[in-house]
Amino acid sequence: MRVIEIRGGAGEAEALVVGERPTPEPGPGQVRIRVRAAGVNRPDILQRKGLYPPPEGASDILGLEVAGEIEAVGADVTRWRPGDRVCALLGGGGYADHAVVDARHVLPVPAGLDFIQAAALPETAFTVFTNVFEDGRLTAGETLLVHGATSGIGVMAIQAARAAGARVIATSRGADKARASRDLGADVSIDASDGRFLEAVQEAGGADVVLDMVGAAYAEQNLKALKPGGRWVVIAFQSGNLAQVDLSRLMRSRLTLTGSTLRARAADEKARLAEAVEATLWPWVADGRIKPIVDRVFPLEEAAAAHRRLESGSHTGKVVLTT
Ligand SMILES: NC(=O)c1ccc[n+]([C@@H]2O[C@H](COP(=O)([O-])OP(=O)(O)OC[C@H]3O[C@@H](n4cnc5c(N)ncnc54)[C@H](OP(=O)(O)O)[C@@H]3O)[C@@H](O)[C@H]2O)c1
Repeated sequence: MRVIEIRGGAGEAEALVVGERPTPEPGPGQVRIRVRAAGVNRPDILQRKGLYPPPEGASDILGLEVAGEIEAVGADVTRWRPGDRVCALLGGGGYADHAVVDARHVLPVPAGLDFIQAAALPETAFTVFTNVFEDGRLTAGETLLVHGATSGIGVMAIQAARAAGARVIATSRGADKARASRDLGADVSIDASDGRFLEAVQEAGGADVVLDMVGAAYAEQNLKALKPGGRWVVIAFQSGNLAQVDLSRLMRSRLTLTGSTLRARAADEKARLAEAVEATLWPWVADGRIKPIVDRVFPLEEAAAAHRRLESGSHTGKVVLTT
């Protein structure tokens, strides 16, 4: 089968080249998907650069999510049959014609969606669900502050929080992006091109939950933006991982600071999340409250161009590869 390999093991986008590997066979509890589309995520870029090695046992091929048809099922798989239209969360291996995955990490393609749209969902759906609703404990009537609001994660977070009946304050860098986040449903959209958002968030009443992919540069403002009892959930630290935190504010306002990564979680934990995502977010996809936001689509062999698009930072939503 065709796969995208990283020439030399790590490098710039140009290092992504088409290679050949044997088509994998599904083991017990696994399925093989004929990949029709694969989502591109920021972690893929980190892995390409050699900064985010695949966890033990995961494929070394890039790609954390795919959509396509089931084409083979291993022993003990009862839910899926060849021909089923599915999408899936992978530990790796999505940039390929075929991908093998734990059958429990597979979800049906929501009604009305094509493979490109479905491939844009799993990584952000799982990440947003567990960080915003589980660890962040966001509930109806509360306010979510989301940074990088037009990122793949951001567009999912805005729509999911609104679907749950929460208010959303969104920051992004650029007037066009602020407009885009408003169009996606954010109640308050802040252009934080100058790195400042605190005043605007305070004017809007503060936040109960911060979904933070920025890290150090926003740390002090995040802390001050939270209402008493607020939760600050870190999913990335793109501006740096070392920050000073005023612990007295943490105590006085009874704040929670937490964070997580999805990819390294145990297979059973991802299976639990898949069930929760299907029960909670999938109905919102089906009724249109969550729409896959696809920025651009590239053929698999143009994976380098897809990475450059994401690295340009000018995208809104997801970049997707098709086979
Ligand atoms: N922990 C987890 O389990 C998990 C899972 C998936 C993804 N992630 C992380 O979540 C982030 C988003 O992923 P994605 O695939 O949606 O990526 P993406 O579409 O490429 O978006 C990255 C976003 O980060 C923002 N950003 C980057 N550096 C910034 C800075 N210094 N200050 C302010 N904003 C900055 C950009 O904001 P502007 O557009 O405003 O410039 C951009 O919207 C990535 O960092 C990724 O590694 C974490």
